[in-house]
Amino acid sequence: MIITAMKPSDIGQAVMLERLCFSVPWSEDMFVSELNNPACSYYAACDNGRLIGFSGMLAVLDEGNVLNIAVHPMYRRQGVGRALLETLVKKAASLHLAFLTLEVRESNKSAISLYEKFGFSRVGLRRGYYERPKEDAVLMTLYFKQGRTGS
Ligand SMILES: CC(C)(COP(=O)(O)OP(=O)(O)OC[C@H]1O[C@@H](n2cnc3c(N)ncnc32)[C@H](O)[C@@H]1OP(=O)(O)O)[C@@H](O)C(=O)NCCC(=O)NCCS
Repeated sequence: MIITAMKPSDIGQAVMLERLCFSVPWSEDMFVSELNNPACSYYAACDNGRLIGFSGMLAVLDEGNVLNIAVHPMYRRQGVGRALLETLVKKAASLHLAFLTLEVRESNKSAISLYEKFGFSRVGLRRGYYERPKEDAVLMTLYFKQGRTGS
């Protein structure tokens, strides 16, 4: 398995993976727009040329937001999610961000456990944030000591 910056040629497989992983999947146009946004960093995990996972982050000033992370169901529990999140966290650190934040479904115990392993902690709740099914989002944040604000 290798992790590289996501390329436009990965988008087709990323859309298929989205449909497998999320009830409200991102469209091809959304991925095109994200990859064209210089403030976004997207990474692809590939196994023998097959896209098995991806992760993405938006950085504005010294704030980062994890936009997405997904691993193909057949490749889960093998460390791919951990490797993808580690890539985002290292990118955030290299950009000297003060913190990384994210939203996650309250029922998504696997993702919450993954985030907690990287030091993200629960900082709030967005009521009714998700659709299909309607659900609250847990807000989680990872603070970097080396951030420009010194926080
Ligand atoms: C969340 C997700 C990305 C994890 O990917 P993964 O490749 O299976 O994760 P890893 O194998 O790297 O596991 C890393 C840690 O995540 C947690 N984890 C992953 N799957 C888990 C599960 N089924 N139950 C409990 N914890 C789990 C564990 O803490 C695990 O550490 P451990 O192996 O030491 O127990 C994957 O389950 C996924 O794609 N889910 C659907 C999409 C999604 O919900 N994305 C998050 C949106 S906010």
